[in-house]
Amino acid sequence: MDRLVIRGGRRIEGSVQVRGAKNAALPQIAAALLSFERLELGNVPEVTDVDTMLALMGEFGMVATRGSGRALALDAREARNAVAPYDMVRRMRASILVLAPLLTRFGSARVSMPGGCAIGARPIDLHLKALDALGAEIDIEAGYIQARTKNGGLRGGRVVLTTPSVGATETALMAATLARGETEILNAARDPEVCDLALCLTAMGAHIQGAGTHRMLVQGVDALHNARHDLLTDRIEAGTYAVAAAITGGNLEILGAHLEHLGSVGAVLESTGTQIWPTDRGLMVVRSGPLQAIDVVTEPYPGFPTDLQAQFMALMTIASGASVIRETVYESRFMHVPELGRLGANISLQGSTALVRGVERLHGAEVMATDLRASVSLVLAALVAEGETTINRVYHLDRGYESLDRKLVQCGADIRRVAE
Ligand code: EPU
Repeated sequence: MDRLVIRGGRRIEGSVQVRGAKNAALPQIAAALLSFERLELGNVPEVTDVDTMLALMGEFGMVATRGSGRALALDAREARNAVAPYDMVRRMRASILVLAPLLTRFGSARVSMPGGCAIGARPIDLHLKALDALGAEIDIEAGYIQARTKNGGLRGGRVVLTTPSVGATETALMAATLARGETEILNAARDPEVCDLALCLTAMGAHIQGAGTHRMLVQGVDALHNARHDLLTDRIEAGTYAVAAAITGGNLEILGAHLEHLGSVGAVLESTGTQIWPTDRGLMVVRSGPLQAIDVVTEPYPGFPTDLQAQFMALMTIASGASVIRETVYESRFMHVPELGRLGANISLQGSTALVRGVERLHGAEVMATDLRASVSLVLAALVAEGETTINRVYHLDRGYESLDRKLVQCGADIRRVAE
């Protein structure tokens, strides 16, 4: 298990390239199972969650070939129905995204229930309700979801999501593409990654309207065909680098980033005293003045993303004043709080609300990464902590950030990766 040793106090400056979004790659790799023809994806990030998804696809006989420039060719011509085992689904919850494509293609699917997670209970009831609305028969047996279609396949229906779940919207969308007739998805998630899945499916021949709105309409087609699609860039990776520039009082151009994909994040950063503006190549982020504390509430897109909450909290630990951070998407995504405390942060937690009182300085310590975004918040805090910080269990980081330590080093950080 690698660890990172970070010596704080250097500004993050220069430019950094963001890659395709992990959370766009995962559903689109699963969607390749819907087709008897090839799907070529471009800009696929080299992160271990993508490797895990490809390993899962291997169980179903999908052939994945990586080409140059982060191209990925997916060939599911010889796909076979197989079980999505507990061991894989437990490791990566996004594995649940294979349920709809398997059910659509084979008329039945057996996928493990994911179980608990470090950031919240994360139930999958909305995925199952969406499939039920399209006529699937679903049973839970011994920790496995057993889904079947009746009367020759799924049929269009009305899917009403009680909360705009990203994954459940993606499940409904994938199932609806080949269902008979029209599907309406209400209270759909509007996230850029959902829109990107819709673009990919459309390139494959699906008929989808309303992506990016609360109401999506899908007209089922008989089959999908070969397609090529470049993934949109990772807004959470971009937001993380923006915080790296902001926390160190740096000056960074984030290549490939799009301000419009960041939702409310741009305005929030501006309120902290960080300037952020679009350039021809991406986004420029500069902080030269003092850092101000401001409050945030995480919300579904386009609200402030939960996937940037930990990074933003790291930023607030050294801001002037106090910041209230309320997490509304997950009930317990605060594993980074005690670890930030080890670096000298002053944070008190009450239920799903954190009160962060800015301190003059953080100091280096040994800390533990607990999940992807918690880990990166520790890296960000370590960039400004006095002395040396050691972050253990950084495999969490590698799940979703391509070469984070190398990229930060290129922008001036002092980081060593120590292999064990
Ligand atoms: N929810 C339910 N029932 C469901 C599905 C979701 O109650 O059937 C609840 C969840 O428990 C959660 C909320 O709805 O409280 C939102 O969950 P959502 O389904 O939107 O999340 P997801 O699809 O499981 C994706 C990202 C997450 C990101 C969330 C929210 C992928 C592969 N994962 O998860 O990314 O936090 O959307 O934006 O797209 C990450 O990258 O670090 C990460 C955790």
